[in-house]
Amino acid sequence: MNRATYLICIACAMPLFAQTEVTIPDTLSGQEFHLVLQNGNFQFQEGIDSETMGVNGPVLGPTLIMEQGQFADISVENQLGEPTTIHWHGLHVSAENDGGPHTVIHPGETWNPQFTVLDKAGTYWYHPHLHEHTDEHVSKGLSGFIIVKDDEEAALELPRTYGVDDFPLVIQTKSINPTGEIVAHTNSDTELMVNAVMDPRLVVPEQVVRFRLLNGSSQRVFNFGLSNNQSFHMIASDGGLLNVSVELTRLMLAPGERAEILVDFALTTGSTTSLLSYAAELQNGIYGAAQPGMMSMQSLDGYNPNPLNGSDFEVMRFEIVDPTVNAVTTIVSNLASDTPLTESESDITRQFTLTPEVMGPNSINGDFLINGSYFDMETINEVIPLNNIEVWSITNQSPIAHPFHIHDVQFYVLDRNGVPPAPTEQGRKDVVLVKPMETVRFITKFEDFANPTVPFMYHCHMLTHEDAGMMGQFIVVDPLATNSNLAGLIPTVVTLGPAYPNPFNPTTTIRYDLPTRSAVTLGVYDITGRTITILADTHQPAGAYSIHWNGTNDLGNPVSTGMYFCRLEAGDYSKTIKMVYLK
Ligand code: C2O
Ligand code: CU
Ligand code: CU
Repeated sequence: MNRATYLICIACAMPLFAQTEVTIPDTLSGQEFHLVLQNGNFQFQEGIDSETMGVNGPVLGPTLIMEQGQFADISVENQLGEPTTIHWHGLHVSAENDGGPHTVIHPGETWNPQFTVLDKAGTYWYHPHLHEHTDEHVSKGLSGFIIVKDDEEAALELPRTYGVDDFPLVIQTKSINPTGEIVAHTNSDTELMVNAVMDPRLVVPEQVVRFRLLNGSSQRVFNFGLSNNQSFHMIASDGGLLNVSVELTRLMLAPGERAEILVDFALTTGSTTSLLSYAAELQNGIYGAAQPGMMSMQSLDGYNPNPLNGSDFEVMRFEIVDPTVNAVTTIVSNLASDTPLTESESDITRQFTLTPEVMGPNSINGDFLINGSYFDMETINEVIPLNNIEVWSITNQSPIAHPFHIHDVQFYVLDRNGVPPAPTEQGRKDVVLVKPMETVRFITKFEDFANPTVPFMYHCHMLTHEDAGMMGQFIVVDPLATNSNLAGLIPTVVTLGPAYPNPFNPTTTIRYDLPTRSAVTLGVYDITGRTITILADTHQPAGAYSIHWNGTNDLGNPVSTGMYFCRLEAGDYSKTIKMVYLK
């Protein structure tokens, strides 16, 4: 990139500007987490109010500290006055707890996901996932960190004093118009911030310091490095520790990706140094490079002018102070002993092709499709048998790089255009940047959670692309369960079978079949027609289902003995059966 821009950008890093101390988010820990989604007011720029959204505050949210193996009981109260969802990005949780677009939290409602933390120690995050509104809600400020701890990580000599030598840093660019309004779905993200602070400065001790970097931007890819070109060590990727630390001078991070790095400030000469994004070195075809498309005639609406595109710029300034007592002074090299899955173990390869909706020079402006389709809430794109080990092969046939993300699982990158990944990409990941005309293959195992009705998502983590439909969904089904629609068991007609046992006490099982995906209501009524409980009220894919009723009403109280009716409504079909509850 041209030298003039470089010099101007370095100039703004000089002490002409008063820099603001970076805010380190509060932490929540223990078994219960209370999150309140709220509207707020926040001054990113002094004197200019922006209407924001935050978690337990006006912008961003607390860091949730979780221990592997613990039970997490989370309440998410929506005081925004509009619907949203909260997704635990990177955590391996069941589809019902995942917070995808099907799990809407309506205004005034509280959602209560509960799960056991199965993940490895690492840096994860939470953010909204409402279909077509993810960019708006994230840009307005909804997101926070999740730090998982485990015994393997605890045994290593790593910095882990939160806010002292271990810092979560979410780096974001936003578009904020002169009146302070945060604009979503735009390519004019000129405002750079770390933990919602612009022109940020962080006081760090003169020792080994750990940064948990999260690219929380809607679209921008960063190419991190230190101002003096000092090397640093990457110790963890999206899903936890790398097996060995990797010495680097540059680290590219795409939207949604995390990396933990160690910087030895004892090696730094002088009392300040900076974290930069060496965006002038980004190859064309990546959002953040001089050219976001592969060819010069391919440009994004509103992309230029933007001083961040294709120029090196300062992300934050470090001010180095005296070391702490018990400072970590060495870089651990052997971190973990994680065994990646290998291709020979795979059951199937699935192909995903990313294409622009229109061809030609304007194709870079999207929309973008996955396997030729837009996201449709009612379409399940992939049905995956529980415990399948799968290779996913992602081919980008568009002129811009897309960060591909999958829910439910962490994966291992097998190769990029047939070449094994760099050491930084050999660990557990949940986002991978797929460059133009590139094929990235990864391998993963769909274990622990099956649910024939609630899907998981896969999508581009450029939020503008995701909101415009660059997303698909999969269900994980248990071939051994009665509600599986695999094994050639797709029914041909809708049926509601008799309840069994009947009469019953304490529980009866109601079975029904769906030949196609339908809107389903399954209710229990008393002999006067009063609703006792609704057992299902959702869209369900084709399949054979069995649902249990334990003789309680919708408040969970036991009903009196006697006769009840169960009615299934599925599309045009409806049928009612009798059940007798005995004491
Ligand atoms: Cu971070 Cu489906 O998202
Ligand atoms: Cu996710
Ligand atoms: Cu994309």
